[in-house]
Amino acid sequence: MKQITLPLVGFIACLIIKISSGWPTVNENNINVVSLNIDNANTGQNIPSTMHGAILETNINRDDDGGLYAELIYNRAFQEKGGSLDGWSSFGQGSIALNTSQPLSSALPVHLRYSLIENSTSPSGFRNGGFYGINIQVQNYTASFFYRSLGEAYVAGGQLSIGFSNSTGQMTYGLSTINVSIIPADNWFHFSFTIPVFNNTSSVKNVFFVEFPPGSKGDFEFNLVSCFPPTYKDRVNGARRDIAQAFADLKPGYVRLPGGNDLEGHTILERFIWNNTIDLLENRPGRRGTWTGYNTEGFGLIELLTFVEDIGAIPVLAVYAGYSLDGKAVPQDELQPYINEVINELDFLTASASNNSMGALRERLGRSEPFDIKYVEIGNEDFFAASSYSYRWPAFYNVLSQRYPNITFIATTTKSISSPPAVDDHDYQVPLFFIQNFRRYENIPRPSPKVLVGEFSVINDDDSQINNPFGAGRLDYPSIKSAVAESVYRIGFERNSDVIIGGCYAPVLQNIFNTQWTPNLIVFNDSSVVKSTSYLAQKMFGQNLGNIILNSTATNSSFTHQSVEKGQEGDGKLGNLYFVATKRTNDSMLILKLVNADQNDIYIRVQVQGTTLCCEGFMEILTAGPGVDPTTVQNTMVNPNAASIVRRPFWSVGGAFSITIPSWSIMVVTLPI
Ligand code: AHR
Repeated sequence: MKQITLPLVGFIACLIIKISSGWPTVNENNINVVSLNIDNANTGQNIPSTMHGAILETNINRDDDGGLYAELIYNRAFQEKGGSLDGWSSFGQGSIALNTSQPLSSALPVHLRYSLIENSTSPSGFRNGGFYGINIQVQNYTASFFYRSLGEAYVAGGQLSIGFSNSTGQMTYGLSTINVSIIPADNWFHFSFTIPVFNNTSSVKNVFFVEFPPGSKGDFEFNLVSCFPPTYKDRVNGARRDIAQAFADLKPGYVRLPGGNDLEGHTILERFIWNNTIDLLENRPGRRGTWTGYNTEGFGLIELLTFVEDIGAIPVLAVYAGYSLDGKAVPQDELQPYINEVINELDFLTASASNNSMGALRERLGRSEPFDIKYVEIGNEDFFAASSYSYRWPAFYNVLSQRYPNITFIATTTKSISSPPAVDDHDYQVPLFFIQNFRRYENIPRPSPKVLVGEFSVINDDDSQINNPFGAGRLDYPSIKSAVAESVYRIGFERNSDVIIGGCYAPVLQNIFNTQWTPNLIVFNDSSVVKSTSYLAQKMFGQNLGNIILNSTATNSSFTHQSVEKGQEGDGKLGNLYFVATKRTNDSMLILKLVNADQNDIYIRVQVQGTTLCCEGFMEILTAGPGVDPTTVQNTMVNPNAASIVRRPFWSVGGAFSITIPSWSIMVVTLPI
């Protein structure tokens, strides 16, 4: 950023720039010429740092197991498909089978038995192909498993080889050996070791293998076979770096977790039970995935919240509220144990380790500092279960709000309850809906409960489907038109930050090989991450957040700034131009967000009152390109960079500048003021 202060050097520079560039000549009668007046001295309400958030909705689209969770081994504890060897195969002379005798733990009751009936004469063992292949790089991997030999079994030379190879085993890319001869028979032993990868491979269809040398014989058992690449922020049991970085780059102010529907589970027994997700991995039973496969909950409550901290956000913690997806609600007189479950969870997360048993448990598990929990959402989408929410909400809220006075509790509907402190709105719709609802939150009467727009997205670009957006035309990927409409809605959030806590596109993550929901913000496979148009738009909003609203009005030739009335044309919108002017006070930066939802470009003259600075500013633009249908531009797995954010400098002269906002575009302007 370059900044020159008037009156001396700046004045001369301003003069030169003004003379040399001049105002471009435009047709003042053209409806798409807009004048925007921003008052640096006239500020509105504060904007909370939570304004643009994200959801870490576990299990959907294999977004944690097989996604953000960096574990490479699929079905590492043989829990998939009700207990199976899915993903595992043997090679050489031995065979694999499931066994349940003397299990590793009650949480992991099934293990793999590898049997070599005769003395082997060739290298033999078993393999795992990862979730959808294993993408290996030249780096160190951290592997581990529980192992025991049975009875008289022996490993020739005492050494097992563990590494990565291509799918046929002909090419080895990484190798480690471990000495198992020291382990007494029939006892589980935990091995943890490093596998250095020394060869590059372009294929992602690699396998992890465990190999017994020729001459070995007998039965050997394994469980919790695990392997991690280096993780985001080098966390043990952590996140896949590229996905985590993409998530972090959104700069979300909050992250809502663990669901979505995964909080509720298929049945009450299959709900998110927080204390099943916190202990050593061998003590985490996991549960049937709400959306897909088996949910190991290896990326459990502590890992989720640590990740949220690592990316600089705060959590919006969703807690189970006695309703599951089979439509069953816990009866009113049986709710107390579920309320106690939440009390234990919140004590575990927030209480001091020195005088609370749950806080002490947290410390024993390696985390002494309490987590910063400011928002707790009670349930998920209880507009589907409004009749029982009428007793469930007060039962939870009355107890929890007494015990945790510093937490804001968020209801999931107001259908059957009155005046919660905050409510979570969800909208999956067509572009027209978001554009037509630009003033939705300014039209709700004040005082109002706070609002978290916990899930929203354009799921269908066909505006005629406004009454049936989940019907024909559902999108695979967001388009530029989707991103534009969502950005109009987001401008509405910022303008109404007296009630809006924040909002978030949902869902965020999608494994391209296991998809239950489209469209999503970030799509990935084993080796690459695609950032959708909606991602880019949300990132522009998240990375450029002011902390205070500046009063601003827009006019065209037919009326004046003074005549603009609140909630009318010129206030936040003019025709198809939507805008919000904000200021980041710590560095005195104007952050102006503009969305053009028109098929024509809009030429805009901006005057910032109350500044005489002559400065270089920057604009970021996301658009389809001149004359291109905005519904046709999508960033996809095959065309990941169809749209990208373009950044350009510009000069303001005494707080005045003019820019052209391309048709169907999102623009963020930053300027020192
Ligand atoms: O985000 C996808 C799903 O949509 C969520 O799990 C649920 O809350 C909503 O219905």
